[in-house]
Amino acid sequence: MRLSSYANYVEASESNPKALGVYMANAVNKFGILYLHGTFIAAGGYNGDDGNKAMADNYSDLVAFGRLFLANPDLPRRF
Ligand SMILES: Cc1cc2nc3c(=O)[nH]c(=O)nc-3n(C[C@H](O)[C@H](O)[C@H](O)COP(=O)(O)O)c2cc1C
Repeated sequence: MRLSSYANYVEASESNPKALGVYMANAVNKFGILYLHGTFIAAGGYNGDDGNKAMADNYSDLVAFGRLFLANPDLPRRF
């Protein structure tokens, strides 16, 4: 299950995404899930430079590349 409290789509964003994320984690915990990993993955519109900046700024634990990777299986080499 993907929890995206920091998502900002079609002008819909959360004013307190951290609190919402913690709330959602506690809410799904009631269903007896095995675990919810604590790694924060930034995703959505990142290119190589943006991804490196996110890591350098300690903004996220990981950065995901979706469409760029689908279109370029050799994306790491290209980066
Ligand atoms: C056409 C399309 C549909 C998507 N639908 C969903 C979705 O239903 N739920 C979701 O969590 N993310 C959805 N995503 C986001 C992707 O899971 C992924 O986070 C995103 O594509 C990563 O950004 P990037 O492709 O710009 O690298 C969608 C992305 C695209 C392009």
